[in-house]
Amino acid sequence: MTHPLDQITPEEINKAADLCKSHEGFDENTIFINISLVEPSKEFIRLYKSGEEFPRQLKVRGMDSNSDGGFVAIVDMKASEISRIDRVSEEAQVPYSFPEIFTAQELTKTNKDYQDALSKRGITDMNLVQIDPWPAGGIVHESIKKGHRALKTISFLKESESDNGYAKPINGVISHVDLTLKKVTHVEDHGVVPLPKAHARYDADSQSKLREHPKKIDITQPDGPGFEMEGNQISWEGWQVRVSATPDEGPVLHQLSLNGRSILHRAALSDMVVPYGTADPMHSWKAVHDGTEYGFGTMLNSLTLGCDCLGEIHYLDANLFGFDGLANTIENAICIHEEDFGIQWKHTDMGGGANEVRRSRRLVISSIATIGNYDYGLFWYLYLDGNIECEVKLTGIVGISAYDEKTHRDDQDFKITDELVSPLHQHLFCVRLDWDLEGGNNQLFESNVEALAVSDENPHGMQLKAVSTHLKKESEAKRDVSPSTSRVWKIINPNKTNSLGLPVGYKLLPGNTPTLLAHPDSPPGKRASFSKHNLWATPFHEDEMAAGGPHSVMHSGQGGLDDITSSDRDISECDLVTWHTFGVTHTPRPEDWPVMPTEYCGFHLIPVGFFDKNPTINLPPSCKGESKSNK
Ligand code: NI
Repeated sequence: MTHPLDQITPEEINKAADLCKSHEGFDENTIFINISLVEPSKEFIRLYKSGEEFPRQLKVRGMDSNSDGGFVAIVDMKASEISRIDRVSEEAQVPYSFPEIFTAQELTKTNKDYQDALSKRGITDMNLVQIDPWPAGGIVHESIKKGHRALKTISFLKESESDNGYAKPINGVISHVDLTLKKVTHVEDHGVVPLPKAHARYDADSQSKLREHPKKIDITQPDGPGFEMEGNQISWEGWQVRVSATPDEGPVLHQLSLNGRSILHRAALSDMVVPYGTADPMHSWKAVHDGTEYGFGTMLNSLTLGCDCLGEIHYLDANLFGFDGLANTIENAICIHEEDFGIQWKHTDMGGGANEVRRSRRLVISSIATIGNYDYGLFWYLYLDGNIECEVKLTGIVGISAYDEKTHRDDQDFKITDELVSPLHQHLFCVRLDWDLEGGNNQLFESNVEALAVSDENPHGMQLKAVSTHLKKESEAKRDVSPSTSRVWKIINPNKTNSLGLPVGYKLLPGNTPTLLAHPDSPPGKRASFSKHNLWATPFHEDEMAAGGPHSVMHSGQGGLDDITSSDRDISECDLVTWHTFGVTHTPRPEDWPVMPTEYCGFHLIPVGFFDKNPTINLPPSCKGESKSNK
């Protein structure tokens, strides 16, 4: 252990679990759901010098016999004691656990009403039934008592153990499982819809013919990778960043700096929501916080060299709780590698002078989480020119129903085979960016480009102006994208200037992104308030880490960005945090079946006046042609 942000180890996890188990506050029914590092304060980390002592505390969240929303225990690893246990309100509970998912499946499978509903559809072999539990918050069924913890399930029929069950949705059968009472409280049956006949197996053996194997591409770096690792710290081309994984957020970037100049203190996916926009009872209630209800980090994949990642790879493991409340290592959870990225810059002198070209490359920090039917890649890229990119890759299997003309409308539920439809829905991600641009306080500006009115000075009506607005309050910083005015948001340090005398800055360059389409007062409008705007900004507070509230299971939006910004604090010059919501509105198409080709969304952070000129001008030529002087 050499740094206060070193990843937690399996030994630490097992020690923390043992301390909890032997603590009189916990009984044998306790489920330890997730564990994470209590990161020392921003100030402590900023000032920390190698070799100094640092605190080591872990946060354990779980459920026990108490009838509330669970507990948060803080374990002091140096003192080997539990320093504090907080109870969580039943109105906003700790994340779901694997044992609860299994419980919901088992209770559903053995329920008489559920079995009757399935036998009406000719299904009697329960071994081939796939039961998918979904968070029950938001639109809570009337049979679930207020404050109880619950899951809903929908079901699919497989042809064999290894079949893709999503090909055969068992339409209209939804079971409501009260986890507090450990019973199924109600089974909805919206009527029998025949099961689709076609399978949708996506493995290589199930395809009638595979295409000829494409010619081999090898990515080799005979001199080794260009980055260096020290624990979880990466050094590459002047960049320094520390990477960890938390159960809720997945990968986290800490202390991102370039050439010794600080940019971000912390960056991570804070929350996400997937609201569905259909009347179909299989999906009409879905608006899940995949990131925080199940845990983006908890669901991380072990990545495979040559399949998930190509080239000279360094992997980081993620250490979390397993099903049994013991340490579980997700090996190769975070992939770190370099990629060639085409041309960084080029110019050919038409007069026969210099013809110069430089190649671009980027450092990739990536991970993939599987949450139910969907798979999400979270990719961070660092570039040679100071650009930072965040990209989410969406793949996996779309939400699905068997087509039923009484239920489905053709402008809401899209046919993806002649038997199946998939409804309109959105995927909205909120990344929290905790700025530390050149240290000290930062400011936030919005920039729009507008046309000047036609006048004697602007006779052709072609003149433009860039309008910059200082966003000084939390309410002023709730902003949406505006492609027609090339809207960007700029974070500056007003006390650090470049050689032009202008403050150094970074621009947040949004992608082509929607906001929440559901009504602002709808369940996702309240629970995922972060999804209502593309930009939010707050003054740093250590308790404000989660865009959808610290605990989102069964909640109505408590603690989310609507609440966080409700006192409309001053942000005119502060320790600034920006929150960026982006994503896609998904109109399913036949090509999304049986498994979706990857769809991409994200944003860029690009330096603006952070450097005095193109910071890649000094890149050496990478080809053999001689560099001609253009003096
Ligand atoms: Ni989708």
